[in-house]
Amino acid sequence: MGSLFNEVQQAPPIEVFAVVKAFNDDTHEKKVNLSIGAYRTNDSKPWVLPVVRKVEKEMADNDTLNHEYLPILGFEPLATAASRILLGADSPLLKEGKVTAVQVLSGTGGLRVAADFLGKILKFENFMYSVPTWGNHRLIFLHSGFKEPKPYRYWDESTKGLNIDGMLEDIRSAPDRSVIILHACAHNPTGVDPTQEQWKLIADAVEEKHHFPLFDSAYQGFASGDLEKDAWAIRYFAERGFEMLVTQSFAKNFGLYNERIGNLTLIVKDPAVITPIRSQLTLLVRGAYSNPPNHGARIVARVLNDDALFAEWKGAIKTMSDRIKEMRTGLKERLIKLGTPGTWEHITDQIGMFSFTGLSAEQVKYMAEKYHIYLLSSGRVNMCGLTTHNLDYVAEAIHDAVTSIPKASL
Ligand code: LMR
Repeated sequence: MGSLFNEVQQAPPIEVFAVVKAFNDDTHEKKVNLSIGAYRTNDSKPWVLPVVRKVEKEMADNDTLNHEYLPILGFEPLATAASRILLGADSPLLKEGKVTAVQVLSGTGGLRVAADFLGKILKFENFMYSVPTWGNHRLIFLHSGFKEPKPYRYWDESTKGLNIDGMLEDIRSAPDRSVIILHACAHNPTGVDPTQEQWKLIADAVEEKHHFPLFDSAYQGFASGDLEKDAWAIRYFAERGFEMLVTQSFAKNFGLYNERIGNLTLIVKDPAVITPIRSQLTLLVRGAYSNPPNHGARIVARVLNDDALFAEWKGAIKTMSDRIKEMRTGLKERLIKLGTPGTWEHITDQIGMFSFTGLSAEQVKYMAEKYHIYLLSSGRVNMCGLTTHNLDYVAEAIHDAVTSIPKASL
C-alpha cells in the first residue's frame, strides 16, 4: 500500500556529525578525531571542567533546587552575567539600561531566535555570512524565512589569511539593510580573525550600508585565553553606537556541549524599546520550545556570579587555550621538519579551536582511508584532537597526503 511518507526524499547528512560517526565506528587503534569542535585532553578524553563538577556536586546536595519550569526567557542570573562578560562589568551601555538578554538553547538556539526576531519582527529579508562560515548559519537563517544569503569573501587561499578587501567590497555591494553575521573571535572554520584596524574598517562599511550586525560568540576565551581580549570586536561595535544582537554559547568555554546553554544579548539605543522587545521574544520562544533548560544554566550562572569560581573558570579556559597553542606549534614544527611541501606558518597564526590547513577534500579522504584520521572535507582541523601522543602520526599523515596528492595551491 502506498504511503504518504514515500514522498520523503533522503536529506544530505550533516557532515560534522557524519564524520564523528565514521570515527566512532572505526576500530583502528591509531584513529584520530580532528573533526567536531569539542575540547579533548592530552589523553583524547572529554574534559568536565573541575569548576563545573564542583558546582554540580553543590547542586546535587542542595535540597532547595527543583525541576520546575524556568521562565520563558530563561534564568535571569545567567542572562545578566553572560551579558556582563560580553560587554565588560563597567560597560556604560549596561549602566544606561541599553542592554537586555535572554537565555537560549546554546549558540544555535540563540541564532534561531535572533533570526526569527530579525526576520519576523524587524522585517529584515537579507543576510550575509563569511565564506567559509560555520555550516549551520545558512540553514538556521533559511529555515527562519530569510532569502538566499549574500556571502562575503573572507578566506584568502593564497595568504591563508583574511581577504579584507574582498570582504569590504562584498559588504558594500550587498543590499542595504542586510543582517551581517560576524564571528566575534576564533572564526570557525578558518581560525583567522580581523585585526583591530580591520574591525574598524568593517564597522565603517557595515554602518555605511545600514547593515545590522549579529555577532556569533561561541569561543570567548578560546582565541586568546582571555575573556576581555576575545570580546574586543563586540565591545568596539557596541561603543560605536551600533544596535546589534550577540549570541553566546557556553558549549565550548564551559565544556557544556549537551546542556545547550546560551544567551542572546540585544543592544539598543533607547531603553524604552526593551519591554516590547522582550514581549515579542517571549512569543517567539513560547512558539518554539516554551522555555530553556535549567541544569547548565544554574552552573554557568553560579560560576559567573561568584568571584572565586569565576577565577577558577578563567584558569580552565587558559588551560584549554594553552594546550591548543602547544598543539599548533607542535604540528607546524613537525611539518617543517618533515619538509612537507607548502607553508605552515598559518597553523600558528590562526587562533581558537580550529585550523584551516589548506588540505583538499581528496587529501582529507586519503588521510581517513589510509591513516584513520578524520577531519572536515574543507580541511578544517580541530586542534584539540591533537595530543603529544598523536602529533607525529598526524604530521606524517599530512606529509604523506600532501606529497602523494599534490595540490597546486598548497
Ligand atoms: C563545530 O563547528 O564542529 C561545532 O560547532 C559543532 C557543530 O555543531 O557544528
